[in-house]
Amino acid sequence: MPDPRRTLADLGDSVIDRRRFIAFTGALAGTAAYAQLRGDLAVAAPKLRGYPFRLGVASGDPAPHGVALWTRLAPEPLVEGGGMPLKDVRVRWQVATDSRFRRVVRTGSAAAVPELGHSVHVDVRGLRPGREYYYRFLTDRDSSPVGRTKTAPGWNDRVRRLSFAFASCQKWDDGFYSPYRRMAEEDIELVIHLGDYIYEYGVGSGGVRNATVPDSFAPECFTLERYRLQHSLYKTDPDLQEAHRLFPWMVTWDDHEVANDYSGIYPEWANTSPEFLARRAAGYQAYYENMPVPVSARPRRGHVQLYRRLRYGNIAEFNLLDTRQYRTDNPCGDGEQPPCDAGFDPAATMTGRTQERWLMKGLARSRARWNVLAQGVLMGQLKHDAEGGRFWNDSWDGWPGQRARILRRIAQKDVSNPVVITGDWHSTFVNDLKADYENPNAPVVATEFVGTSISSNGDLEVYGPYYGPMIPFNPDIKFFDGDRRGYVLCKLDHREWRTDLRMVSTVSTPDAPVSTFRSFVVEDGQPGAQEV
Ligand SMILES: [Fe+2]
Repeated sequence: MPDPRRTLADLGDSVIDRRRFIAFTGALAGTAAYAQLRGDLAVAAPKLRGYPFRLGVASGDPAPHGVALWTRLAPEPLVEGGGMPLKDVRVRWQVATDSRFRRVVRTGSAAAVPELGHSVHVDVRGLRPGREYYYRFLTDRDSSPVGRTKTAPGWNDRVRRLSFAFASCQKWDDGFYSPYRRMAEEDIELVIHLGDYIYEYGVGSGGVRNATVPDSFAPECFTLERYRLQHSLYKTDPDLQEAHRLFPWMVTWDDHEVANDYSGIYPEWANTSPEFLARRAAGYQAYYENMPVPVSARPRRGHVQLYRRLRYGNIAEFNLLDTRQYRTDNPCGDGEQPPCDAGFDPAATMTGRTQERWLMKGLARSRARWNVLAQGVLMGQLKHDAEGGRFWNDSWDGWPGQRARILRRIAQKDVSNPVVITGDWHSTFVNDLKADYENPNAPVVATEFVGTSISSNGDLEVYGPYYGPMIPFNPDIKFFDGDRRGYVLCKLDHREWRTDLRMVSTVSTPDAPVSTFRSFVVEDGQPGAQEV
């Protein structure tokens, strides 16, 4: 509950209790202070060209006492500028304990400004741990869809179980989001997205979705306006919107939010340039504008603070990593390459030194049963031939030195049940992770689950035939499938972590059924998954 001693300035800020607010403003009525407060909260109302909440609503980063809320005003999502006037628009928001908003517990207002694509980000505070809440946004005329969210349990709470889904890689024009339609039916507390939320490529009409897309979508994304349009196009999908509306998400990015296989300030196959830095900044800003991330992720001079840690009582701690922004250039070159000594240079890093230190410190301190590294790219080793003569350098195989260092320290610090969850590959892997891949008897340090794509590659069987024949050279890869689309369901208690691979039959229709293709279990204290 809010502190009644809070100042007027604090109240104007945003987080206020509705009943107390009415009582408070009633007492102040007629004073200059009240006029100023009312002015702050009044909706400055340029007339909008239509319903402004066509991109839906979302929540993210659940904490014990707060959650991030998001919407973006766009009455005409597929038009540059979203059909919005070049003016600030004040949007009110409400959080209630019931879906009909009879018991509003927090309310406030925020400005949707053209410099941020008329997006709205609110960090709500003062909520209670482990509770379900409903939220909505209001303009002077319209009300958004009602979102549902749930706060995390208290930091030191004993939490018996936790269920969540993770997903990645959702190329809009490769297929429908039937996996999201099925995810919306799951009994889960949160969704984790591991990147390739959009793809930067041009989009045309027709295709699997048989959609009509304006010509402005034909070119690849380079500018802020074009990245914004791409996010809008993806967000118009009703199944993606529904999965956002129903669950809080935790998101991180991979490469396609900017450009294929870039590393830090380096585009693939090229040196850095002012053009690439501008492109990266545009992609980063559009990402912020369209994601339910906290205000702390707002870009500052082209940098976004995206890596962060979220705790679920004593059961799990999530380290959301940024495996793109701080990379040194690929030490052994781009694409598929033979290994090289530079991959073991301590200066070569996928996360940057600061993030690595932050990660190791957090893991060493954690008291959670399961310690999750949620991140972009394959961490397990994948030899492309029997001799290990070629590796895919965009993944951790391109940075084997840092991978070994991180896994060695995880083993030394005796981190409780480290589990890595990964996107990127449009394929499923279940891997034993080792600090020393040269030694066949090296102990297993951690478990990795790589989820397939939501829609990327569509129903085409592309990666199965290419990577499938390599799997026998890699005894630490316990399972591989390259041909199915879906998401991954994880159910945790204090004895075991269960992973269900939830696969749809097709992404050529929006309503395909889902089934559990395979299931795996990691037992407490026993790194490595077993199929069940
Ligand atoms: Fe992808």
